Amino acid sequence: MKFEASKVLQSLPKQFFANLVRKVNAKAATGADFINLGQGNPDQPTPDFIVQAIQQATADPANHKYSLFRGDPALKQAAADFYQREYNVTLDPETEVAILGGSKIGLVELPFALLNPGDTMILPDPGYPDYLSGVALAQVKLELIKLREQNHFLPDYNELSEDAKQQAKLLYLNYPNNPTGAVATSDFFKNTVTFAQANQIGVVHDFAYGAIGFDGHKPLSFLQTPGAKDVGIEMYTLSKSYNMAGWRIGFAVGNADMIEALNLIQDHLFVSVFPAIQKAAIAALQSDQATVTDLVSLYQRRRDDFYAAARQIGWEPYPSGGSFYAWMPVPEGFTSETFADLLLEKAAVAVASGNGFGSGGEGFVRVGLLIDEPRFSEACQRIGQLHLFSR
Ligand SMILES: Cc1ncc(COP(=O)(O)O)c(C=O)c1O
Repeated sequence: MKFEASKVLQSLPKQFFANLVRKVNAKAATGADFINLGQGNPDQPTPDFIVQAIQQATADPANHKYSLFRGDPALKQAAADFYQREYNVTLDPETEVAILGGSKIGLVELPFALLNPGDTMILPDPGYPDYLSGVALAQVKLELIKLREQNHFLPDYNELSEDAKQQAKLLYLNYPNNPTGAVATSDFFKNTVTFAQANQIGVVHDFAYGAIGFDGHKPLSFLQTPGAKDVGIEMYTLSKSYNMAGWRIGFAVGNADMIEALNLIQDHLFVSVFPAIQKAAIAALQSDQATVTDLVSLYQRRRDDFYAAARQIGWEPYPSGGSFYAWMPVPEGFTSETFADLLLEKAAVAVASGNGFGSGGEGFVRVGLLIDEPRFSEACQRIGQLHLFSR
């Protein structure tokens, strides 16, 4: 017999970055001294105390059983306590916290859980490409809103047509932003709540880089905005804050109806997450966050080193306020893709081409601050030798 994927699966977007990975692997296979600034995978290990917590937890047979369907109540409590401590946001752990096997799952399943086929959702452009998988799985219509440099990569809701505002049921936002490194202001979040209430649009704030703010600025949680819990939720992940990307653990917090929709779809798809991982996540959230402070300092040092090296060759960055990315303009005469291809070909440096995040990313490439500092100056020296930037 022959089988083919369902129509819904066939409608899933092609992974733009699969192509980059192929090109990068081909370059690496040539044995060239190759510098990969294209990826978004934290390079540092998970802190020891978290590894020790899972080692202990895996040795306990109580953690070998099925988890409760909706996750360990102690983890939900730890998430609520974390939000209280870090953001002064009060959450009911039972109704306002959903445990997720990584925030990507929540982001992709939520449109399916909350919308009906043919409904409309609004995504930022540029934006994290996996949001599009949620659009395809839920069979909903997509409305894009541009993030423009002159607006600090925050969307301007006035750009939406009246039709779009009326039809949209859901809006995704993400600050600190992947790919641009932009951060949100409290005025912007207030404006978002007003916009959401006026148009009855649910808001999902993807706070994946919530812990990573530069220059002493702590990124704002959307839930700190008055009225936010009435209109939306926030997705939090342990992947970036604690270098736990492979562990697959995160949570959603906020509006109880949206949390219930997430829990309901998950009742049918999963039996929550391996209990030992949940125990380790509790240890991470309850810690004094000293490892997070150290990690942010490391990323900030790398950002500063990379910016200094880039400026030396006349390559002026868009200043990143958070995340672990630098958003770099493409020199004249190139598109994002032709520039990224040239860097790979002639300098053995991989970057992520901006249009992979949507047409709004055209004119930029994304650099991941995920390698050791000396390699940034090496990368910039090699790029400088191509004499692409006028100073
Ligand atoms: C903006 C953004 N959101 C969500 C995620 C997903 O994170 P995870 O599924 O590991 O929680 C990522 C991962 O790269 C991301 O960049």
